[in-house]
Amino acid sequence: MALTSKPRGTNDLIPGEIELWQQLEEKIRVVCHAYGYQELRTPMFEHTELFQRGIGDATDIVEKEMYTFLDRGERSITLRPEGTAPLVRAYIENNLGSGALPVKLYYYGPMFRYERPQAGRYRQFTQFGCEALGSSDPLLDVEAIALPLELYKTCGLSGFEVELNSIGCPACRSSYREKLVQFFEPHSDSLCRSCRDRLHRNPMRLLDCKVESCQRIIEDAPVITEHLCGDCADHFAQVRQYLDELQIPYNLNPRLVRGFDYYTRTVFEVVSSELGSQNAIGGGGRYDGLVEEVGGKPTPAVGYAVGVDRLLLALKSQNKLQVDSTGPSAYLVHFGGNTKLKAARVAHLLRGKGLWVELDHMDRSVKAQMKQANRLDSKYVLVFGEEELRNNQVVVKNMQDGAEEKVALDDMGQLTKILGVCAK
Ligand code: HAM
Repeated sequence: MALTSKPRGTNDLIPGEIELWQQLEEKIRVVCHAYGYQELRTPMFEHTELFQRGIGDATDIVEKEMYTFLDRGERSITLRPEGTAPLVRAYIENNLGSGALPVKLYYYGPMFRYERPQAGRYRQFTQFGCEALGSSDPLLDVEAIALPLELYKTCGLSGFEVELNSIGCPACRSSYREKLVQFFEPHSDSLCRSCRDRLHRNPMRLLDCKVESCQRIIEDAPVITEHLCGDCADHFAQVRQYLDELQIPYNLNPRLVRGFDYYTRTVFEVVSSELGSQNAIGGGGRYDGLVEEVGGKPTPAVGYAVGVDRLLLALKSQNKLQVDSTGPSAYLVHFGGNTKLKAARVAHLLRGKGLWVELDHMDRSVKAQMKQANRLDSKYVLVFGEEELRNNQVVVKNMQDGAEEKVALDDMGQLTKILGVCAK
């Protein structure tokens, strides 16, 4: 292993690239503000049990994908593979449900899953998630879809579709589970090992299996939407009614179950036509039992997470990402010695006014400094010549029109005005 290579499935975000992330982060803040979601930040690692209980023991994430280790105090710790269970833990621990409901929170940050890396699938990736806790209003399910769609639209993304399903509540699911077991049992020899293992423990997980031979069997499996209880069917009908009212198009997908045990009722995913096999640019659903499972009061909740890496990939393939690259306000050209001392002082003062100012650290010739100012696309060049300094002046050159003027150095107000920012 070379010291210069990063771990598999991780990415460096370098200058030129990071600006795109920053722009997206700004857009996330604007959209969350409009929907009244406030940011919450949780640790990047939690007690392993939170995910075992929250996500479910018989899920791919818990069985195969978690970064779990014992810390020096022999506690089992897991790098968070997702943000919903940690947010719920923080909601309970900080008593965030004690005020007016619903509580609307969002998070943004790295998640970790030991998956087989490929384009759009990483071992460290970033999610932006939004969660509304304390209400079972189907309109909140629709807002959990509308908010990320607004983000996708604000970014200029096109060619994405919403997949929608309801997987019911524990009551309507118990009879459905029996039907699934009855359906799969005769096929048990043709199922993959993991499906065979889960057949009796958690038969709904079989619907999520990506193995081709299992997929062929799953095609004929009974669908949950035909087994919803009255309340769940009614809730799902209202979700669809609100979606129609808000003119949000969706595809009903009775096979969509998603890979977490905490979901109840509505589940959804957004897929992009720009991405190959890893085409989900986000997903979510209602999880009315999770808060109680983690140790809180019964609290209905619904949320969604955007895969930020995949969103950026989709935007890139549609040429929707542009870095606004503006150069420094001024490049200070000096001749070394005293002139460098003076340039350093002026740079310090201008930077104190919030201006981006550059100067030479490589003992470049004046010609090379001018070249560097051009390369950086500096708006102005300030020339600190011996003669000007004797008069306590500096030559200010506008790099766009070439106009030059001498400005007194004891008048920083005039200098900052020329450079385009009012003095503090
Ligand atoms: P998820 O579907 O596992 O849901 O992840 C949401 C999104 O994160 C995916 O649609 C995908 O865009 C991105 N993602 C997942 N795994 C990777 C990976 N290995 N590499 C790159 N991107 C990835 C959740 O995590 C739920 N917590 C969502 C939720 C919030 N449900 C309710 N509230």
